[in-house]
Amino acid sequence: MSAQIIDGKATAESIRKTVAERVQKRLDKGLRAPGLAVILIGKDPASEVYVKHKRKDCEEVGINSQAYDLPASTSQGELLALIDTLNNDETIDGILVQLPLPAQLKSDEILERIAPDKDVDGFHPFNIGRLAQRMPLLRPCTPAGIVTLLENTKEPIRGKHAVIVGSSNIVGRPMGLELLLKGCTVTTCHRFTEDLESHVRLGDIVVVAVGRPDIVKGEWIKKGAIVIDVGINRLENGKLVGDVEFEAASQNASHITPVPGGVGPMTRAKLLENTLQACEELHT
Ligand code: GUN
Repeated sequence: MSAQIIDGKATAESIRKTVAERVQKRLDKGLRAPGLAVILIGKDPASEVYVKHKRKDCEEVGINSQAYDLPASTSQGELLALIDTLNNDETIDGILVQLPLPAQLKSDEILERIAPDKDVDGFHPFNIGRLAQRMPLLRPCTPAGIVTLLENTKEPIRGKHAVIVGSSNIVGRPMGLELLLKGCTVTTCHRFTEDLESHVRLGDIVVVAVGRPDIVKGEWIKKGAIVIDVGINRLENGKLVGDVEFEAASQNASHITPVPGGVGPMTRAKLLENTLQACEELHT
């Protein structure tokens, strides 16, 4: 079997088109454009690239993006004060603080300071709690994007065994909640998991978000499984690869996401959807 490639780039493009149309409808009615504040602290090269893409996406769909590029020396108090100001700004629907933060900043306190109705990353304990209680509001972007990709395969999801590798706050943990909502039986593997292979072999759906090339071997993938690779790793030769052995996994999987062009574009597209949702449902 050679897997079908899940085209996240094309799906993301169609989401952007729909968001752009909905933003235009607002403008036609004389309503304001949605506003997103994107805060970047320091000069982490990968973060600079991600933020540049997010700002460009906003421009493309008509979301008003406000850039806050702060020095790496920014204090906890200064960042909290900026968030307070943006929480009270009626033209701002979403506040995104790009992670990771410089070491002196306590990210938990910062993310919790963002008003839950402006938390377009979906990281606030309120939004995670809503998801855990089966009444999601603003959903974490990467897991929400993955659910859309799974739905688009048209394969049955309910009742399937989903194996998640990685238990981060950004992907692994909310991914488990999303897949529970879809009726999956969920296994989450993490750094203390004994015998990763034996768990992955049972997955009808395998989501890998670790950040280590080839941590999941292609031969572990069950015949017909759907493989979602969240990892983006740059090898010494400059090539971008995911966390799964792509070629070997493609021999067993029914569907698989490529890297790049799979999950990454969907994360960005869901951020735009969340910003529009916050604007339409929570602020006007
Ligand atoms: N760093 C890596 N991924 C993300 C993300 O989805 N949101 C934010 N804010 N920072 C990130």
